[in-house]
Amino acid sequence: MKYEPGLPEPLAARLRAARRWFVLTGAGISAESGVPTFRGAGGLWEGFRPEELASADGFRRDPARVWRWYRWRRGIVARAEPNAGHRALVSLERQVEHFSLATQNVDGLHERAGNCNVLALHGSIMRARCFAGCLAAAQDEEAQPVPRCICGSPLRPDVVWFGETLPGELLEQATVEAGHCEVCLVVGTSAFVHPAAGLPIAARLAGAILVEVNLEETPLSPVCDAVLHGPAAIVLPDLLRCLGLLREPLPGSGV
Ligand code: OAD
Ligand code: ZN
Repeated sequence: MKYEPGLPEPLAARLRAARRWFVLTGAGISAESGVPTFRGAGGLWEGFRPEELASADGFRRDPARVWRWYRWRRGIVARAEPNAGHRALVSLERQVEHFSLATQNVDGLHERAGNCNVLALHGSIMRARCFAGCLAAAQDEEAQPVPRCICGSPLRPDVVWFGETLPGELLEQATVEAGHCEVCLVVGTSAFVHPAAGLPIAARLAGAILVEVNLEETPLSPVCDAVLHGPAAIVLPDLLRCLGLLREPLPGSGV
């Protein structure tokens, strides 16, 4: 399938001229790598109450269950490879003067694809930390149903759960980047979860061009300058090709 970005030429010209890009991604960009999204058919929340699995209370109630769920997801992520959408964003980072990428994903696929300036707002599913908050380095925790920190407390996945605040410094950096960009590109997020969903709004209010890539409409769509419907692994390379910002072959594509 060949995707035609369908950008009006004046908008495409403004995108070609832009020097500062801020990208916000969500689970949709990893969908074609085989990592399930959270919402929608087949999403991770289907059949689960998020607060049972992804909250401090849920962890206190049944830490072994929470660890089983995260280990299952880790397995999927470990077997997944970055897709053409991730690789297009590597190409973008290498072509434009200033690039910053904030992601709500915990899968590490942007870093593995080769992006450098990545703000992983929701943490990393591959790391663990002390549930009591001590700063001891987490040891290898795969052996026990509920791994323990050296201080005796349980270890938890190093991700942001419902009811928790994002790491202040990362959110601050992302807010600054959103406020200073010329283009804000939003890819594969349902834009329901704040504060991440507020970043494109902040960019828009500061005068940035807002471009959304998603399979469907989101609450952000009405305020976007362009909404590109389709799978990110197809739309992103085509968009960048149309802007002359794609280095061929895509980095890491092995051809
Ligand atoms: P969601 O699962 O809420 O939304 C995924 C979005 O990606 C939807 O809007 C889909 O339409 C879109 N999508 C699916 N496949 C796509 C594809 N191939 N190409 C482009 N778009 C596609 O995921 P997020 O918005 O990332 O937080 O969810 C935000 C946060 O909610 C997550 O980080 C997680 C969850 O609770 C925490 O765990 C703290
Ligand atoms: Zn500890």
